[in-house]
This record gives sequence, structure tokens and C-alpha cells, in this order.
Amino acid sequence: MKLWGGRFNKETAKILEEFNGSINFDKRMYEEDIMGSIAHSKMLSKQDIIGKDEQIKIEGGLLQILKEVEGGEFIFDLKDEDIHMAIEKRLIEIVGEAGGKLHTARSRNDQVALDIRMYLKKESTVIEGLLGELLEGLVETAHKNKGVIMPGYTHLQRAQPILFSHHMMAYYEMFKRDLDRLKDSYKRLDVMPLGAGALAGTTYNIDRHFVAAELGFPEVTKNSLDTVSDRDFIIELNFIISMISMHMSRLAEEIIIWSTSEFSFVSLDDAYSTGSSIMPQKKNPDIAELIRGKTGRIFGNLMGILTVMKGLPLAYNKDTQEDKEGIFDSIDTIKISLVIFKEMLVTMKINEKNMMVGIENGFINATDVADYLAKKGLPFREAHRIVGELVVYCEVNKKRLSELTLKEFKGFNDLFEDDINRKISIEECVNGRKSYGGTGLESVETQIEDAQSFLKKN
Ligand code: ARG
Repeated sequence: MKLWGGRFNKETAKILEEFNGSINFDKRMYEEDIMGSIAHSKMLSKQDIIGKDEQIKIEGGLLQILKEVEGGEFIFDLKDEDIHMAIEKRLIEIVGEAGGKLHTARSRNDQVALDIRMYLKKESTVIEGLLGELLEGLVETAHKNKGVIMPGYTHLQRAQPILFSHHMMAYYEMFKRDLDRLKDSYKRLDVMPLGAGALAGTTYNIDRHFVAAELGFPEVTKNSLDTVSDRDFIIELNFIISMISMHMSRLAEEIIIWSTSEFSFVSLDDAYSTGSSIMPQKKNPDIAELIRGKTGRIFGNLMGILTVMKGLPLAYNKDTQEDKEGIFDSIDTIKISLVIFKEMLVTMKINEKNMMVGIENGFINATDVADYLAKKGLPFREAHRIVGELVVYCEVNKKRLSELTLKEFKGFNDLFEDDINRKISIEECVNGRKSYGGTGLESVETQIEDAQSFLKKN
């Protein structure tokens, strides 16, 4: 018989069990369910709602169930519908009547809200740790390749030379913001929902703050209707995971481009790339592609839960059972992605010479030629036009800007002097960009040092 079977005269249809049940996926919250129930039973006993002896039996039974699950002996039966009822039913089997008192002053609606919050707190902390390791990987890669210059792009057209480390540290900034988002959202996860009952609270003299303290929550939710129907915190976590994933996907995309024969800026380690079953010469960036691809399912999970929630009247509706598979999938996906992405990144070889080829052939110092004239008093707009003409001249004569003679420069403007070649050397173009947050070596060193000291503290 079902735990709620009293009102029913017939067995549930077999197909309904499959459709209605959530045990196949919510069983991963078994530990949270058990710990939550132990805290609840302690509170019931402290408030004299159940006897001390009953509480001891309940706690003993629940701990036995924990062992059974961890030892692989516990039977997850779809007939029990969800993890909450499976555990409660087993408890009654083990300890008898006392077990039947556990659900006093509680509903599955506030119970599931508790379990999922506890589970997400745990997983959010794990993701935080993995994100921290990726941040370390980025800083390490930036530090190791400090002098390496690469072409910087806008519109994927060569724009200005930058330090490769500056590029890595740009991603550090993105992921650092994601870390801040995770930490901030944790505050909203960390609110204890048990005691909201089915929707309206309870007539028992419960002590919600005691349960919160038992389970390590700093505060309790304030409105019972909101408590059982709120899934904001799931959406928020899925959004943050989406953001992390989007950021990884951008760098993955760059790594895919950089590892083409056309670019050859980087070579992926053999352990983090794959071959082709037909083309023997191939070394494919499958990992980076999968990271980019998995972003799709994570965004899908976010859209899924947003859509589930958008039309729900207060308070609990069974629709919210659909909150779990998506966020579980996003969590599983982001955890493995973060680990593998970091490894791929730190083992990647940087081909400095090929980056230099890209720099030498793209008039990438044209802005600096214009700045040279502007610093001598010419309006920048005017300087821009002159250098545009210089570039055309170079293209016609198949020369680089750095290969022009002073006489050729002077043919375009008399302000050019013999320091022009030094002033537009690639090193000067990079290191001259000393403005705060720019690509100059000093600025990048500051970024790296700040990051290192942040990571040491966190
Ligand atoms: N399995 C359910 C869920 O995940 C638990 C809550 C069920 N509550 C109910 N009144 N049917 O949401």
C-alpha cells in the first residue's frame, strides 16, 4: 500500500507510476533527505511532539538506511514514488510505529524544498572549488608564457599586438565574476525551508530555527507559500552554470581556431585530443568542441526550468518535480567540463613563432604609426588618413610598415623622424600600452600578481 493510500480504492495504474515517480532521479538526494529527517525528529522531540525514545529509534533507523543505501543494499522501488517516501516506508519497516511519527508537522512539499537546497549547497561548493582550479590554471598559463606576443583581433581581423597572457587574464576576469556570482547566490540557497508544511505552516509548536541550526542554515524562510513554490535558487544556479559554460565555450572556440593548420597558434596535448577513424593525419580538438557543444544542453536546462515555472499558481504544483533532472544534468556537465577544460588548457603548447608570423603580416602596428604622428601634434583623424594611405602604399609595394625607409615615411608626412622604426616595433607597441588594464607587460604583471594573491586567500 502507498503511504498516501488511505483515500484510494484502487491500485495506481502501472504506467502512472512510471510517469509520476521521481525516485529514479531524486534518489541522489538520499543523504540530504536522511539528515533533514534526523534534524526534524530532534526538533519534534525537543518540542515534546514525539517522545525522546521515539526520536532515538527514528534516528537509529535512518542511520541504518544511510548505511543500506551506501552499501548498495537499499531497494529503490518506483512504487514508492520518490526518495522521501522510499526512505519513510523503509523506516517504518525497521522501527515500526515510531517511524510513522516522523512525518508529523511536515509535508513532502517543504521536505523536497529542504533536500534540494541542501543538495545544491553541497554541489555549488564543489563547483566553486573546480572554478577556483580553472582560475589557477589560467593564471599559471598566463605566468608561464609572460613574454609571448600574439595578434589581438577585432572582427576576427588582426587588430593590435597583445600579450598572450593578457588574453588568458581576460578569461580569468570572466571566470572570476562567475565565482563571485556563485558565492553571492549561495546566500539565497542557504535559507531553511522546513516547517512551511504543505503550504500554510503548521498547528504544531515547531522550532524552525532549531532545525536550521542543526543543518547549518543561518536563517529560515519567511513565507510558507513562497517556501514550497520557490525555485528561483535552481534557476539562478542554472544561470550561473550557463554563464560559466558560455565563457568556457568562447575560449574553447578560440582554442579550436588556434589549433587549425591555418593558425597553428597552439598544439593540444595528445592526451587531450583525439584522432579520426579514417584520416590518419588528423588530431582533433574534440574536447574543446564538446565543451562548446555541452553549452547547448546547459542553456536548454535553464530554458526548461524557466518555462516550467512561468505559469505556476501558488503554492506547490507537481510541475516543480521537473526542476531536478535539468539542474542535476547541468551540475554533472559543468563539473566534468571544468576539470577537463583546465587540464586541456595547462597542457596546451603555445607556438610563439606562429603567433609572430600573424603579427608581422597584418599592419598590426598601424595604430601606433598614427599615434606617432598624433603625439607630434597632428590631429589623430589626419594621422589616421595618412597611415591609411601608407598601408595602401605598402600593399602595392609589398612591404611591411617596418620595412619603409625614412625617406618613404617623409614622403607622406614630414613629422616622421628616424625613431619611427623603434617606436612601431612590436615590443614597443605592446609594452607602450601601459594604461591601467592595458596589454603592456607591467599591466599584465599586475593583473597576474593580483590574481595570485586573490587565489592564495581564497
Ligand atoms: N517528488 C516530489 C517533487 O519532487 C516531492 C513533492 C511531492 N509533493 C506532493 N504533494 N505530491 O516535487
